[in-house]
Amino acid sequence: MKRDLCTILDLTAQEVQSLIARARQMKRDWTTGTLGPSLAGRVLGLIFVKPSTRTRVSFEAAMYRLGGHCITMTERDTQIGRKESMADTARVLSRYVDGIMIRTYRHEDVEELARFATIPVINGLTDLFHPCQVLSDLLTIEEHRGSLDGLHVAWIGDGNNVANSWINASIRLGFTLHLACPPGYEPDAGTLARSRSVGRGKVVLTTDPFEAVAAADILYTDVWASMGQESEEAARKTVFASYQISTRLLEAAPPHARVMHCLPAHRGDEITDDVMDGPRSIVFDQAENRMHLQMALMEWMMSPLAFESALAQA
Ligand code: CP
Ligand code: NVA
Repeated sequence: MKRDLCTILDLTAQEVQSLIARARQMKRDWTTGTLGPSLAGRVLGLIFVKPSTRTRVSFEAAMYRLGGHCITMTERDTQIGRKESMADTARVLSRYVDGIMIRTYRHEDVEELARFATIPVINGLTDLFHPCQVLSDLLTIEEHRGSLDGLHVAWIGDGNNVANSWINASIRLGFTLHLACPPGYEPDAGTLARSRSVGRGKVVLTTDPFEAVAAADILYTDVWASMGQESEEAARKTVFASYQISTRLLEAAPPHARVMHCLPAHRGDEITDDVMDGPRSIVFDQAENRMHLQMALMEWMMSPLAFESALAQA
């Protein structure tokens, strides 16, 4: 059976834990120069309709380090830009490559690609979700905190694609997520409703950042205007002015709390320089871990026997 990652809900809790465990092994092997070429001969197609630094480079570097190869495409240099359907794109790419990663606007486009592809499809960010980001963030938190048990994450700012993926992670793993968003900028209603109906994982919505961080292990933020919302940037600066991770907000959190940001950051808006460059920031470990988690993800999807046997040897 081919596996896709359109959202974190495509994974079981056990699968999330296995991906994190394998990523930790691969990070260790990469550091010691003993990483094996478990994706030798495999090819991943990367489609970018929106821009990227981390997602593109971490996938390409991960694939190269595992002995495979990437073909990176943008909307403009493919027929996608001239309205070839996602279904036909999926059917054709399935004849050439072993997996597809896509970053685009409409989440439905990723679902359609996954439905018609006979190879694994990975969501590299849509307007609605960013599962690779949050999966690798869980790895980063486990590294710094030792475990995900009893975790409290505080999300400060826009209820955007990354926030929605945090809700899905909470549904799967059962940790507590505090979301402080201005009125009208809450996360996706359907995703929130799902978290309430599932009953596993606690999602607490507030408009007060200080309330959200009071018991937090992690303070997390993201840009106030996501890709595609550039025209709202000025208006959002006013709405979000009190949703900044500053030293004052960090001081309201427990002393062990750490600060995360998926990046790119707009320094001086959602996060101050002193916090981002300060001793409690783990944002660059977080960026690095995109590569390690995606190595594990691609191996799981494209070379499952190698994945299982490496995990069994641990
Ligand atoms: N965090 C993240 O996905 O960064 P890029 O937009 O640079 O890929
Ligand atoms: N919410 C941001 C995340 C960037 C990685 C965006 O969609 O632009």
